[in-house]
Amino acid sequence: MMRILGIHIGHDSSAALVVDGKIVADVAEERFTRIKHYSGLPLGAIDYCLKSQRLQMKDIDVIAVPANGGIPDLNFIFDLKGARQEPKTTPRRMAEFARTVMKRPATKPPLYIKNFPARASAEIVHVEHHLAHAASAYYTNANQGRQLIVTMDGIGDGVSIGVWRGENGKITPLKRIGREGSLGWFYSNVTEALGWWHGDGEGKTMGLAPYGDCAKVKGVLDRFYPKFSGGELVEPHDFGRSYFWNEGGALQWHLDDSVPIREIVNQYRREDVTAEAQRVLEEQTRQIVFPWLEKENTRNLCCAGGVFLNVKLNQRLWESGKIDQHHIYPNPGDSGLAVGAALYACYATNPNAPTHAIEDLYWGPEYGEKEIEDTLKLRNLNYRRVEDVEAFAARQLADDKIVAWFQGRMESGPRALGNRSILMSANRAENKDIINARIKFREAFRPFCPSLLWEKRADYLEHVRDEFFMITSFTCCETKRKNVPAVVHADATLRPQTVKKEFNRRYWNLINEFGKITGESLLLNTSFNIMGEPIVNHPREAIRCFYDNGLDSLVLGNFVLEKKA
Ligand SMILES: [Fe+2]
Repeated sequence: MMRILGIHIGHDSSAALVVDGKIVADVAEERFTRIKHYSGLPLGAIDYCLKSQRLQMKDIDVIAVPANGGIPDLNFIFDLKGARQEPKTTPRRMAEFARTVMKRPATKPPLYIKNFPARASAEIVHVEHHLAHAASAYYTNANQGRQLIVTMDGIGDGVSIGVWRGENGKITPLKRIGREGSLGWFYSNVTEALGWWHGDGEGKTMGLAPYGDCAKVKGVLDRFYPKFSGGELVEPHDFGRSYFWNEGGALQWHLDDSVPIREIVNQYRREDVTAEAQRVLEEQTRQIVFPWLEKENTRNLCCAGGVFLNVKLNQRLWESGKIDQHHIYPNPGDSGLAVGAALYACYATNPNAPTHAIEDLYWGPEYGEKEIEDTLKLRNLNYRRVEDVEAFAARQLADDKIVAWFQGRMESGPRALGNRSILMSANRAENKDIINARIKFREAFRPFCPSLLWEKRADYLEHVRDEFFMITSFTCCETKRKNVPAVVHADATLRPQTVKKEFNRRYWNLINEFGKITGESLLLNTSFNIMGEPIVNHPREAIRCFYDNGLDSLVLGNFVLEKKA
């Protein structure tokens, strides 16, 4: 048995545990610190990964780190006896590190900081940032045959775009492009110019784009992005200086280009500028992906890296007709790097081991009935136990109530997938405004996503494929647009979670019950969190969120809390 702990330290720090190639635990540290995009040490995440499988650090065979560079902090997390980390891309025994103690003193943390002494025979594997992204996509993929893997983000280990071949369990690099080709930075610079945060607000930019007309401002962003043709970078872009700093525990960026882009935003309609940014991203990405598909003589595409959080880009690629099998790792940003590094380390040593296509992302903490009830009792709350919570919640939702739904293991990645979700009927258009005003307090233009029964996917989604994780949008079937208006975006798309019964029985039952009452087997599903905070993890956070906004009821396992009218 091979147990690999992946740890990512940086934007969206995280830890993951892979046992014999299977992901058994994965969580971002932000869920414990309650600081969104937390960038410090993932000590809570490591602790959770080990405890969730009843393991201790001495049981871990390999520590996989998605970074080429040395990370001195590893010394005290894993008690490496002061050995300095060196950049390595191949496995190296820890004892060897210990023998090569460098002159530079190791970081000395305060005594209250927990550490996890590793055994001396354990190995540390450094995996290049984009290779870890590529591994997260390739080794979680159900598709067969040669895969083109494309990774795109702002920057990681000096690379912004990676092109890879995935075949017979091996990943081979084909192309790496540095900062001068960063389409991720371009999109983030526009985001910052619009007043949102680089590395956080890109979804808002994407959400605003369908309200604009890029033809009205075509070319206004031309001097701010790199140009690609035939799979190659033909016009590199000088991004100037980039700055980052730590804001309350999370890394934030600023790049020079955002200043002149803001002048453009002020001069034209914001919607039109975002539409142009989206057009540029899609057009330039096509210039990378399609030529490489041809060169590699494949129609199978795997994607990861933060740029592929852009569900509209993913939809355009899929609708091109040039792809037969399309897999996007559903946690494509840097919080997915711990999984990617661990998977890479696993298959680098054993390329013939069977891979495991992911079926769900429920790899986070869960809390048992006793812990939930104790949490409610301690707070002296007037809760009750309900046997058939699916039927209870379905009736509430059919009455246009807003229900918070907390069940089982927390989802990995940025999307709530029915275990830490806020739900409402999508059957009335005004429900979108109600949930915005009472719960999410966010911009009116931003769309909400639906969860729908997998069996009904063709009723709602055009040109649909098996896709479970809200990582791509699809055009909504015309016959359904009027039936579920609260989740149909301005461009008539939906960004769905399709729910299979065997992956989440309780959530499937709930949507099915709702369908029996209202005729629509689909719910509006948004993440269970207070604005600006990470998704709730523990029941106490669920309760705090419940009383901090206009939710009507909270279902915690089989327990129900209601606010009376
Ligand atoms: Fe990245």
